Amino acid sequence: MSQNRICQLLGIRYPIIQAPMNWVSGADLVAAVSEAGGLGTLGPNSGAKDITPDVELTGERMRGQIKKVRSLTQKPFAVNIVVGFGEDLKYSKKIVEVVIEEAVPVAVVSVGGPDTYTGVLKDAGIKVLHAISTARHGKKAEEAGVDAVICEGFEAGGHKGFTELTTLILTPLVADAVSVPVVTGGGIGDARGVLAALALGADGIYMGTRFMVTRESESHSRVKEAIVKGQDVCTVSLPKEFMLARDLVNDFTKEYMKMKKTEASPEALKKYLNEHSQYQAQQLGQADEAEICCGQVAGLITEVKSAGEVMNDVVKNLGSRFEELKQKVAEFF
Ligand SMILES: Cc1cc2nc3c(=O)[nH]c(=O)nc-3n(C[C@H](O)[C@H](O)[C@H](O)COP(=O)(O)O)c2cc1C
Repeated sequence: MSQNRICQLLGIRYPIIQAPMNWVSGADLVAAVSEAGGLGTLGPNSGAKDITPDVELTGERMRGQIKKVRSLTQKPFAVNIVVGFGEDLKYSKKIVEVVIEEAVPVAVVSVGGPDTYTGVLKDAGIKVLHAISTARHGKKAEEAGVDAVICEGFEAGGHKGFTELTTLILTPLVADAVSVPVVTGGGIGDARGVLAALALGADGIYMGTRFMVTRESESHSRVKEAIVKGQDVCTVSLPKEFMLARDLVNDFTKEYMKMKKTEASPEALKKYLNEHSQYQAQQLGQADEAEICCGQVAGLITEVKSAGEVMNDVVKNLGSRFEELKQKVAEFF
């Protein structure tokens, strides 16, 4: 077993965590990453083909995915708990119940405070990794008893708070602020990013978008193609009511930004978001008309690969990238 703190904590071979992705990271992707030595994470709506407002059905769908992962791999894996606010809490409460009943080894908790579920998950013997986007929140998560914190930099795909701290700044700030292991993500897609993250003080790596563009992900093929085509400035940070969301630039984001500029009402914006949701992009393939959460790393992705290839590329190239870096550092003096 590796001496790396994340590998020791989670019982995995390489400290690479596939970040949870709504409608994208289902059992096939999760099992493939875990089989390749990382940690796969089931995201919300894993394995689902339609939207349901039903809490029980949401929980049972997740239970089905957990069982499917176990039929594909014996290795550790995680489930994402999106804490949420108000009404949404009933969904996260249900997922927590299922995760405990199924004795899932690891929970990746996001979009909410660490006080809500850390205690109950830890009491059930589940390892808790909590996602944060400021050093202060990292400290708070540590105080609440989490096993590790996950930094999400501004480059990352998906939803986060209103802070715009990039991975380059957030990672060392958090690494200095906490004693628990630090996982970092947002902009990492290959061995260079992994090496940079380790240099910044991270113990583990969190990758979402790179794993979305794999054969095993549940993302629609048109979405994967759109990301492969994406160039350096292909994403935008979209201001929503409660948070920012990084998305692939398409007709949907252009129209949304236009509505923002003309000061459309919150109701009109909400309606527009609901009618052009991630479900429509990821499941129905409406890659121009609907929302595709996606990180800046899209500009570096040139191919749909298997999840195992993504893992192997990182592992294979890390040594040679490290040698190059050592040479550069030696030349520095
Ligand atoms: C399509 C997509 C969906 C996402 N959905 C979720 C989610 O449901 N829960 C969550 O905690 N994070 C979600 N995220 C954020 C990721 O877990 C992670 O923070 C991010 O992908 C890391 O940055 P990267 O995309 O640059 O690798 C999502 C990201 C993407 C790209």
